Amino acid sequence: MPKLSVRDISKSYPNDDSGEVEVLDGISFDVHDGDLLCLVGPSGCGKTTLLKIIAGLLEPDVGRVFIDDEEVRAGHNRVGYIFQQESLFPWRTVRQNIRFGLEIANVDKTEMNVRVDEIIEIVGMEGLEDNYPHEISGGQARKTEMARSLVVSPDILVADEAFSNLDAQTRNYLQEEFLRIQKRTGSTIVFVTHNVDEAVFMADHILMMSNIPAKILKEYKIDIQKPRVRTSPECLAYRSDILSLLKIEQEKAMSQARQKQSAST
Ligand SMILES: Nc1ncnc2c1ncn2[C@@H]1O[C@H](COP(=O)(O)OP(=O)(O)O)[C@@H](O)[C@H]1O
Ligand SMILES: [Mg+2]
Repeated sequence: MPKLSVRDISKSYPNDDSGEVEVLDGISFDVHDGDLLCLVGPSGCGKTTLLKIIAGLLEPDVGRVFIDDEEVRAGHNRVGYIFQQESLFPWRTVRQNIRFGLEIANVDKTEMNVRVDEIIEIVGMEGLEDNYPHEISGGQARKTEMARSLVVSPDILVADEAFSNLDAQTRNYLQEEFLRIQKRTGSTIVFVTHNVDEAVFMADHILMMSNIPAKILKEYKIDIQKPRVRTSPECLAYRSDILSLLKIEQEKAMSQARQKQSAST
């Protein structure tokens, strides 16, 4: 039984001409318990839309989402979400930020402290608990957000281009940390990235999405033992395969945009 099943999801948004633009077109996939799935696709293809649907923040027009074989509907709280933009509360310390979800869930204070201490140790933020967000680095902020999502033991963790605003060195470090933390917690993760190297380094499976209306173009099972060596021939082979497919999709997107522009002038 898959941990997460996404079945035939379609979604349109209203556009400027009081019509509709179809973004997702019949998306289906499964994620197994403890797997890290990376969603890769051209910009604007609906990756964030799909994550929001999985997390119950947005209702699909068509299709269903199952967690542990149970259908979930918008408003459920079984998914932890790491947003693209940093989203720590600036007026709360690291510890107070991490505690937030447990406060909402009215968890007993003693248990709350035990769980917060445990996750602080897991993500490696000991000694920084009482700092405010402006007193920690960008990488530490991302780890705090990871802890804040994981402390409530969500069934699934989704992350939306979580490392895209960081310098290359911090990004590489966080990818390694993310995998280390996942190994400790056994989390099932859906990770959106437009960075193919990141996907090949981290993923158990990669799903390539097409341009809008987005479908799943191809699924890759990344059969390379972790920890991986970014520059190994195996990693580079996946990388070049995925990049060439992505390039075709990006060229299609550009020509679609040109056609649209010339039709409107
Ligand atoms: N709330 C919205 N209303 C109208 N259009 C939207 C809305 N959110 C996203 N879109 C459009 O849907 C498409 C997919 O957006 P998004 O899911 O953010 O893509 P991605 O994350 O892959 O870049 C884009 O063309 C975007 O402009
Ligand atoms: Mg996005």
